[in-house]
Amino acid sequence: MKILGSIQETRNLVKEWKAQGLSVALVPTMGYLHEGHKSLMERARKENDKVVVSIFVNPMQFGPNEDLEAYPRDLNRDAKICEAAGVDLIFHPEVSEMYGPDFHGFVDMTVLPEKLCGASRPVHFKGVQTVVTKLFHIIPAQRAYFGQKDAQQLAIIRRMVIDLDFDIEIIGCPIIREEDGLAKSSRNTYLSEEERRQAVILNESLNDAMCAIEAGEKDAAKVKEIITAKLNTCPLAKIDYVEVVSFDNIQPIEKVEGAVLIAIAVYIGTTRLIDNRIIM
Ligand code: PAJ
Repeated sequence: MKILGSIQETRNLVKEWKAQGLSVALVPTMGYLHEGHKSLMERARKENDKVVVSIFVNPMQFGPNEDLEAYPRDLNRDAKICEAAGVDLIFHPEVSEMYGPDFHGFVDMTVLPEKLCGASRPVHFKGVQTVVTKLFHIIPAQRAYFGQKDAQQLAIIRRMVIDLDFDIEIIGCPIIREEDGLAKSSRNTYLSEEERRQAVILNESLNDAMCAIEAGEKDAAKVKEIITAKLNTCPLAKIDYVEVVSFDNIQPIEKVEGAVLIAIAVYIGTTRLIDNRIIM
């Protein structure tokens, strides 16, 4: 397995592979890898000849008061996980390699990023779309793998690839969870023991919503009420948002029908966690 920080060297190696007729997969990450990331790498490994994992904590997608500095980083640990998952190349650039002193370009979409996480993190998706566009240009892979854990991100990347004619297939992969149901996340490491215990409330509130929907509930407002009521039983939980939207365009809906995304963001103490259910 190779680790490269240079855009040019990375691009040359991937071009070499493609010239040999090999299929190439990209798994974009910000590192501090866990089972969720591993599931994307393993799927990529099964479906492609070469697997590239990018590890880059992208400053552009963090707001001024967010956790950019505190975001956990450990390249040695990540490299071992990648090696064990059969990854061929880690692309691990410095910030200066990705964003030169005169950097001004960005990719944005008006409507999709405004709701849900975009409302409380206004610069976030502009940063995600810009860095993912750069990664797609640096690593011209046939397929890129994203988790449904970040469902709005997945919807935005899918839309961006269609609208801007990127020649890449976007593969969405299921959410990997801890044994008690908490969705795996690099940010779970911020939780104290008591916060970690209470954080299961996110998944539990979504389970309650799914039970109601399976029993015939179609009213999106009622579904939101069920989730909010459950979250409010948890002393350390502070709701950022509870939304029921169309998975195709992230716009609010009144009836639970068609492709639906139920998405929540909740502070447990000072740590903001997200979770969701997608109904197709
Ligand atoms: P990061 O949070 O490191 O996540 C990288 C990928 O892993 C994303 O596609 C995310 O959805 C997926 N992932 C995270 N936790 C998961 C879980 N529990 N189950 C399944 N998949 C999971 O998302 C980002 O980085 C960045 O925004 C990025 C796309 C790399 C752009 O900077």
